[in-house]
Amino acid sequence: MLKNNISKIIAIIMVLCVGIVFVGCKNTQEEKELSKIEKIKKEGKIVVGTSADYPPYEFHKEVNKKDEIVGFDIEIAKEIAKDLGVKLEIKDMKFDGLLAALDSGNVDFVIAGMTPTEERAQKVDFTKVYYNAVQAVVVKTEDKDRIKSIDDLKGKKIGVQKGSIQEQIATNEIPEAKVKSLGKVSDLMLELKNSKVNAVIVEVPVADAYASKNEDIILTDIEFKDEEEGSAIAIKKGNEDLVESMNSTLDRLIKEKSIDKFVLQAIEMID
Ligand code: ARG
Repeated sequence: MLKNNISKIIAIIMVLCVGIVFVGCKNTQEEKELSKIEKIKKEGKIVVGTSADYPPYEFHKEVNKKDEIVGFDIEIAKEIAKDLGVKLEIKDMKFDGLLAALDSGNVDFVIAGMTPTEERAQKVDFTKVYYNAVQAVVVKTEDKDRIKSIDDLKGKKIGVQKGSIQEQIATNEIPEAKVKSLGKVSDLMLELKNSKVNAVIVEVPVADAYASKNEDIILTDIEFKDEEEGSAIAIKKGNEDLVESMNSTLDRLIKEKSIDKFVLQAIEMID
């Protein structure tokens, strides 16, 4: 009788133990299975990576004697953070380091006027395109009658941003181009002003931004063929929930015509 009771008790204890272990496991598993969005909400902040050398997309500006990163991409990033109910932290880096920062988890998303090329889409996920722009070739104003076609660029020194699609365009579409790739677009424009390169390729709004503030550089009418164009936000693969949430923020902004407004405001801020 007593023996029987003891074995009953042991059985109950064993069931309880298994239960505890099971619940324990389930908890740690849940921890692991927190989606990216849940993790971001738990932390209360989202980190964006950008390359702030690309006015009006993103650039440095002194606001109240303090250096700030502004631009229409940044306004979009703020809206994304707002819709998630978290704070936005901005990390500025060279354009060619952005996708690695995404991969290592150093940033949660990248907004940098980045074109969603097929090649990049093999490594990261992209939202929908939120803005469209084509390429422009800028030259020194004194060269404007000498450089008017792709042929005129033949064998010339072409400045492009490292890791950008412009780097590929220069290499693939300009015969015998001597391509000079630098990390920052601001340095490319200096190279152009100092005649270290003959031309620089950037998206039209950026070309306009630099040309409007520098009388010695000017846009040409040169166009390239078969361009991949447009800007989208990049996110590390496997975070579909985040892509979805960002797409709905973009849908809202597009519907409200806010992006056009952000672009105009950003252009106003260039100095
Ligand atoms: N759209 C081009 C690309 O994706 C250039 C983007 C450069 N962006 C920047 N913030 N500097 O390659």
